[in-house]
Amino acid sequence: TKPAYKEPYRPQYHFSPHHNWTNDPNGLVYYKGEYHLFYQYNPMGNTWGHMSWAHAISKDLVHWQSLPLAIPEDEKNMIFSGSCVVDKNNSSGFAQKPGQIPLVAVYTAHIIPDKSKPDDYLQNQHIAYSLDDGRTWTKYSGNPVLDLHKKDFRDPKVFWYEPGKKWIMVTVLPNEHIVQFHGSADLKTWSHLSDFGPAGDTNGIWECPDLLQVPVIGQAGKNKWVLLNSQQFTMQYFVGEFDGTVFHNETPSDTVLRPDYGPDFYAGITYNNLPFGHDPVLLGWANNWKYAQNIPTSPWRSAMSLPRSLRLKKDGNTWTLLQQPVKSLQTLRGGAPIVWTNKTITGSQDFPAKGQVIELETALFPAKDGVCGIRLAAGKEQAIIISYDAASQKLTVDRSKAGSNSFDNQFANFSSAAVRVPLQNTKLRLHVFLDKSILEVYANDGAVVLTTQLFPDAGLDGIVFFSEKGAMRILSATVWTLRSVW
Ligand code: FRU
Repeated sequence: TKPAYKEPYRPQYHFSPHHNWTNDPNGLVYYKGEYHLFYQYNPMGNTWGHMSWAHAISKDLVHWQSLPLAIPEDEKNMIFSGSCVVDKNNSSGFAQKPGQIPLVAVYTAHIIPDKSKPDDYLQNQHIAYSLDDGRTWTKYSGNPVLDLHKKDFRDPKVFWYEPGKKWIMVTVLPNEHIVQFHGSADLKTWSHLSDFGPAGDTNGIWECPDLLQVPVIGQAGKNKWVLLNSQQFTMQYFVGEFDGTVFHNETPSDTVLRPDYGPDFYAGITYNNLPFGHDPVLLGWANNWKYAQNIPTSPWRSAMSLPRSLRLKKDGNTWTLLQQPVKSLQTLRGGAPIVWTNKTITGSQDFPAKGQVIELETALFPAKDGVCGIRLAAGKEQAIIISYDAASQKLTVDRSKAGSNSFDNQFANFSSAAVRVPLQNTKLRLHVFLDKSILEVYANDGAVVLTTQLFPDAGLDGIVFFSEKGAMRILSATVWTLRSVW
């Protein structure tokens, strides 16, 4: 039977497992018309533990079908994060008949030799393969395939590097703030190519790296390489070139670029094996290790972000990743939207629609030196506040009065990062997705994105536009109610 997905705070169009704990997305791969989503999962409960790979598939990145647990933990190893590749030429030799194409999962085995000492662990890289399009998996008997005899060494992202006709594995040494590159011809034997880092943000441990090519807007056929990685408790990216051995960073050393400036976007990685011409797709975990295990949801805990298409834009010498929620989300727009055009607002005004499962698009001119924005999930005293301060050019998402937050004192105090929005003709464009307990705000074509969890009461569903210290002019504001995918 189809699970109901009707519990308080349950996202209606973000992926969440029916029950139990999830963290990172894993093994994102497109194959035979299916987008696979594996994810860190606890088959036994609602907090982190017994880490295994669970599995869902989708034809459109929006509607998901859950499949049986793909790679369970065993007596020796927990199954940590990693990736999946399509081994078209059977380089691994796992195929058992001619023409069979193995899918190969590359993941970190987290090994605790003595269960009474969980902190004395080891991590190395393992593989498993599937000969039935990802349905069932066999752990390779020759594991590990890469072992540095280190405690912390994890999160392999493997992809095929066509110019060099070889597999590349990107991993992290979390405490050293180093991304490592290894190369292989058969996915079983790996040799060290180079290291990148420390660089950029080194405040937290590094996790979940990814390296991919991203198309450049306005330059048909041109790509740049983007190195993504997570640092507890946020993410960063570097733009440059990859020559098959070394990543050449072109991001200035005093610049930190973030795919998301909100508190709840982590462990984001991209799809392998997308068809030619398909923009890269990034998916992250919409939670934060600071309070992840305490969020007030049950019987599941945690969800994925919306899948996002990626492009790069160049202004002068600055590269910016532009993220757009995937187009197929538009199929969830139910009925005619409610629209405002050419409206001037001082103070605040209710929008003539309500809801906690909505998409909102607006283009507006803020008052000079004013503070304007939108309150969502709004009631008398409560709301999540998206505000733009024209004087400092900062976009802020404030969830401090947006519903339940007593489960963790860091969540209660948290007001998400303010960011500078590069404005064209002082016009601000916002594309906003509210899905019960997840808010994603995309500003100016996704040059800035903020993802934020909030836990509003069911009755908090108002939409209010406001402008303090002067009038704002709304060119247009459009709100759709979105259908549930569950
Ligand atoms: C990131 C992470 C990874 C690790 C996994 C374990 O959130 O800590 O580094 O592989 O989660 O669940």
